[in-house]
Amino acid sequence: MRVTVIGSGYVGLVTGACLSDLGFKVVCLDKDEDKVKMLQAGEVPIYEPGLKELLSRNHAEGRIRFTTDAQLAIDHGDILFIAVGTPAQEDGSADLAHVLSVAAMVGRNLKDFKLIVNKSTVPVGTADRVRAAVKHELTQRGMSSEMFDVVSNPEFLKEGAAIDDFMRPDRIVVGIDDGIHHEKSQRMMGDLYASFNRHHSRTVWMDVRSAELTKYAANAMLATRISFMNEIANLADALGADVDQIRRGIGADNRIGYSFLYAGCGYGGSCFPKDTQALVSTAQAHGQLMSVVNATEQVNERQKTLLVDRLVKRLGDDLTGRKIAVWGLAFKPNTDDMREAPSRVVIKSLLERGAHVTAYDPVAGHEAMVALKLDCAGQEALLNNFNLVAHDMDALHGVDALMVLTEWKNFHNPDFQAMKLSMRTPYILDGRNLYNPDALADLGIAYQGIGRRN
Ligand code: UGA
Repeated sequence: MRVTVIGSGYVGLVTGACLSDLGFKVVCLDKDEDKVKMLQAGEVPIYEPGLKELLSRNHAEGRIRFTTDAQLAIDHGDILFIAVGTPAQEDGSADLAHVLSVAAMVGRNLKDFKLIVNKSTVPVGTADRVRAAVKHELTQRGMSSEMFDVVSNPEFLKEGAAIDDFMRPDRIVVGIDDGIHHEKSQRMMGDLYASFNRHHSRTVWMDVRSAELTKYAANAMLATRISFMNEIANLADALGADVDQIRRGIGADNRIGYSFLYAGCGYGGSCFPKDTQALVSTAQAHGQLMSVVNATEQVNERQKTLLVDRLVKRLGDDLTGRKIAVWGLAFKPNTDDMREAPSRVVIKSLLERGAHVTAYDPVAGHEAMVALKLDCAGQEALLNNFNLVAHDMDALHGVDALMVLTEWKNFHNPDFQAMKLSMRTPYILDGRNLYNPDALADLGIAYQGIGRRN
């Protein structure tokens, strides 16, 4: 079986790289010529640990190719993955323009049976619309409209751990609808993922709509756990309790489990915010309320401003003349992704209050500048008070406070004595609960975590 992956973004590249590493001959198609040239030259447009090595090895060994040639790509694959973006629109619903234009392109180029696999995160009902778009093109060309099937195979990859998540999945969700191709499609998807089902079957088979909704339900559940813990943390702060002890206390219950219970300065990224909004908007379109998911979003928006509110409480609303350091800009460690990163809200709010901000991130500096320019459009002068530094300690000279917004590993054990000497006032607002409040109190550093007793 040969595989074509349409869309060389994050999901497409990881899928293509991993499937080629499993021995499949893969073609990655993208309409962006510069991106394809870059990939052909061995460059990877995104930062994901292990991806570059995987791509270059399989490229050198002839198992993966990159092209802008749609006909070549469609001819190549028995299985065609659609892995293009579904950005959120103004009203929160997912924009399907890319997915549907790919579907039409497939229809225009189809010569024999292909299995079309939806990998992009798409609202329930999208597979039907993909099916209709392909059929329309085939009918225009006077060809049989039974030459393909569409299945749903949502991805559950975490940025920063995507290769490992793909290669060692907890489960593989495959949605296939009844119809003349059902058996064939199931066999092809079974063969595609056979490597992961050797020990026991990790594939969960279901119908297409359930598979599409499973993806949103998973992300909404995870986001809800985080917002729930953030609310508990805020209450713990008010009551003098400690959220980390509470986390252990509830995590020990098998039904709850330990993961995704970390309170912090809010979740970000390209998935949770977009998918929770899309779920709410899908529900609305069907006359349903998603009260829990709605609340999850509201709590998260509030949580992003929590650290600034605390700083303001201590230093006053006008931060003119104040210097604030920020450690960590990416929405989470091991990525340069700035989409919906809490740091964007925090930094803009500090700049608007007149503060001077010095920031450090191990990899996201460039992306952060791009994002902040966007956020400060029309208020460009704000950025005169912002600068990036190349080393974490360089951010601290003469500052009134340090805000830690991303839990990069190298922030875990800093030299607190040196930090204290460098800062004008030793005050740490820890948005990721990295530090021990008691140890910092002993060192004479003022400390505020999220829901930590101190
Ligand atoms: C998330 C899901 O975890 C993946 O399963 C899913 O495939 C992916 O979205 C997607 O839809 O494509 P990702 O956005 O890469 O993956 O990042 P996560 O590691 O889930 O973190 C999301 C955010 O939640 C980060 O801002 C992180 O700091 C925050 N978080 C996570 C917390 O605040 N507390 C936690 O306990 C865990």
